[in-house]
Amino acid sequence: MNVHDAIIQRRSYRGEFQNRQIDQTDLNRILEAARWTPSPFNVQPWELLIIQASEGKDFLAKMTEQAVVEQFKDAKFLEDNSQWMCLDETEWKNRGDGVLLTDHITLPKMFQDAPEKLTGNILKFLLNNAKSLSILGHLGAGKMPANEIATQVRESPLLILITMNTNRKPPGEGASRWMWLSMGMLIQNILLAATSLGIGVQFVSAPLESETDRETICNHFNFPEYHEVMTLLRIGYIDTEDEGDSVRLETSEFVHFENKS
Ligand SMILES: Cc1cc2nc3c(=O)[nH]c(=O)nc-3n(C[C@H](O)[C@H](O)[C@H](O)COP(=O)(O)O)c2cc1C
Repeated sequence: MNVHDAIIQRRSYRGEFQNRQIDQTDLNRILEAARWTPSPFNVQPWELLIIQASEGKDFLAKMTEQAVVEQFKDAKFLEDNSQWMCLDETEWKNRGDGVLLTDHITLPKMFQDAPEKLTGNILKFLLNNAKSLSILGHLGAGKMPANEIATQVRESPLLILITMNTNRKPPGEGASRWMWLSMGMLIQNILLAATSLGIGVQFVSAPLESETDRETICNHFNFPEYHEVMTLLRIGYIDTEDEGDSVRLETSEFVHFENKS
């Protein structure tokens, strides 16, 4: 697969992975892609923890579950979220940004069985009234989606926890910014290498949302305090027909040409 195809075809994969481990040769290719990431002054501030054993997966699954339950209680978080959530696929495609609600959570059975219009109206009401959704969160509404994503984390063939070693700092006032940029590049290298190998990747951000949780995770895996946890990725082989859909703004909406005079 050429680079352009990998860029365009890459998707965040939120489904079940095939039930097989990542081949060592494929993993090596992904890690080699990570290795060649550019960084300011070539400081290479990243470290990757490859998690294949059930203990580590189980710990991160529990952290994810707790975090999602808490997020469902958090009115501010829900309100911010709702601005980027689309209920309807056509609306999502027209909009060209945000995410589709049903890509992120499986609706409770009562919603699945109800007439589409009624479900749509209820969901619209809940999204427009994030505070009411947080009341449902306090009543336990987050438990089902939390359990769903936690199970996916637990059952992933592989997890990669990526940290930034803040001791490997380039000179200058902008040091942190440049380090963050290179961390993003590292992650994109991983995503593209995985795509070219028929491997799907999903970011799992919920357990890294709060500083306390990030510290708990760092301590659990014995990272020194100068490491900052950046990202958790779940990884596995996918069936290509399940690649998933995505949307983007048109280039004309974000590219600007300086007027020639
Ligand atoms: C920093 C970052 C964090 C993300 N966190 C999550 C996440 O926690 N769960 C998830 O399903 N997708 C997550 N995503 C994926 C985005 O939702 C996705 O990139 C976006 O919706 C566009 O879809 P696409 O990647 O399939 O093109 C994250 C992406 C980035 C770059």
